[in-house]
Amino acid sequence: MADRDPSLDAARDAEPFYARVMELVGELGLLKNILPGQQQQQRRQPVIQFQTPAELPDLLPLTLTSTAPPLDDPALLQVCRQVAQLSVATSDFRFQNQQYGGVDRYGLAGALLTECLNTNQHTFEVAPVFVMCEAAVVQRVCRLIGWQQGDGIFSAGGSMAIGYGLALARYRRYPEVKRTGLFGRRPLVLFTSQEAHYSVQKAAHWHGYGLDNVVVVATDENGRMRPDALEAAILRVKEEGKDPLFVNATIGTTVLGAFDPLPDIADVCQRHGLWLHVDACWGGSVLVSDTHRPLMAGVERADSVSWDPHKMLGAPIQCSLFLTQHKGLLHQCNSHSATYLFQQDKFYDVSFDTGDKSIQCGRKADAFKLWLMWKAHGEAGLGRMVDAAFTAARYCGEEVVRRPGFRPVLASPQCTNVGFWYIPESLRGQEETPEWWERVTRVAPRVKEIMVRQGTLMVGYQPLPHKGLGNFFRLVFTAVPEVGKHEVDYVLDKIDLLGRDL
Ligand SMILES: Cc1ncc(COP(=O)(O)O)c(C=O)c1O
Repeated sequence: MADRDPSLDAARDAEPFYARVMELVGELGLLKNILPGQQQQQRRQPVIQFQTPAELPDLLPLTLTSTAPPLDDPALLQVCRQVAQLSVATSDFRFQNQQYGGVDRYGLAGALLTECLNTNQHTFEVAPVFVMCEAAVVQRVCRLIGWQQGDGIFSAGGSMAIGYGLALARYRRYPEVKRTGLFGRRPLVLFTSQEAHYSVQKAAHWHGYGLDNVVVVATDENGRMRPDALEAAILRVKEEGKDPLFVNATIGTTVLGAFDPLPDIADVCQRHGLWLHVDACWGGSVLVSDTHRPLMAGVERADSVSWDPHKMLGAPIQCSLFLTQHKGLLHQCNSHSATYLFQQDKFYDVSFDTGDKSIQCGRKADAFKLWLMWKAHGEAGLGRMVDAAFTAARYCGEEVVRRPGFRPVLASPQCTNVGFWYIPESLRGQEETPEWWERVTRVAPRVKEIMVRQGTLMVGYQPLPHKGLGNFFRLVFTAVPEVGKHEVDYVLDKIDLLGRDL
């Protein structure tokens, strides 16, 4: 074979570049989670330097062409610097836009290791340690749920995890559908609440239920699914000659943070023989907290559970678990026994080739990130992190009640979501007519625009049309970065400052 041509790009030594990128991460403070007392120093950097989609292409060489010459390392480093600077500083406490934030350092170390090892979670032979780590995490979480035995798998996000539940529910009742498809059957129907995540509808479409066969069940004033409404809906569907199969209950709804009443919902499911899936993607982190785990009482009666440690717990995105108490079902339902990958005559125990339980072939070794966090913090440490998020949310809720111009959406929120309207001075003390509310609903988008353009804060807002609620802000407290009263005050003060004169 001829010597390698040194001008070939493949021969370029990328190691110095890699080292510089790591220096850049440190230099820009990308991983500096803001801890109480450090906020002054951090406030100097904007949480975002917002540019519109029309402006970004002028700032970065985004276009790829066949003729552009390769960038050298200094140019690439400059691009990386710009990419970091134009991206959102999610580890800053001023980022309150969604249900994730900073990244746990140990989780990040796990991510770095798995990325460097660049392996695949599908078989023991290529991921021996990671397969065992996944088993250890699944086993522990099953115990925390209250199952003596169970099974599980890391999934590519919480939305996909709900899809696993739908597939298993159908397979358990109608295993032949795996072969025959759904043709010629009565429509299968699933039930979910008004407040539940939209991924249920997406999964229903993907799995062939069809959106018309998703029944949206009413919630109470706190956003919890009403068991009486669920039962009435099931009876109605039966009368229509359809086939009720699956109930999705939520532990920590996306907007209001409601915890559905699991024992009552489980009773309804039991009476009618329906599969109960608990979407604990957001609130499931209470599992690791002795103080807050009781919020999930009744979860042990679920057939399946999904939990995203990449949300409240601060594991690196993605880190998402699907669990079921029906051991063996995941494999029976999803396996296809590809002979090039899952050979049965391997020299080790092939039950550890767990990848055939998944609908993915290649799968990232996400379990290791959570496993390393668990080892580093201990379960009690993880629990304290979750408790701290609840403490911050409680303080924020009290402040929202106390401060002029702030009005809470819920009297007593259950999770770490704090929803509130901000009412500018010009609208205070007036009769609260529909027109008045219409004006209030325009406040949050306006304040949001100002905060993002200034880079001072990122806070999410949304309406809840089915509850007749106009746009309100939602703060969501996660375990990373841990925030204290200073940070909560900072965020509320800032919203007050930005919105007061509207
Ligand atoms: C309650 C709930 N379930 C499921 C999901 C979907 O999770 P993922 O974003 O990991 O797909 C979300 C996301 O926000 C959620 O809030």
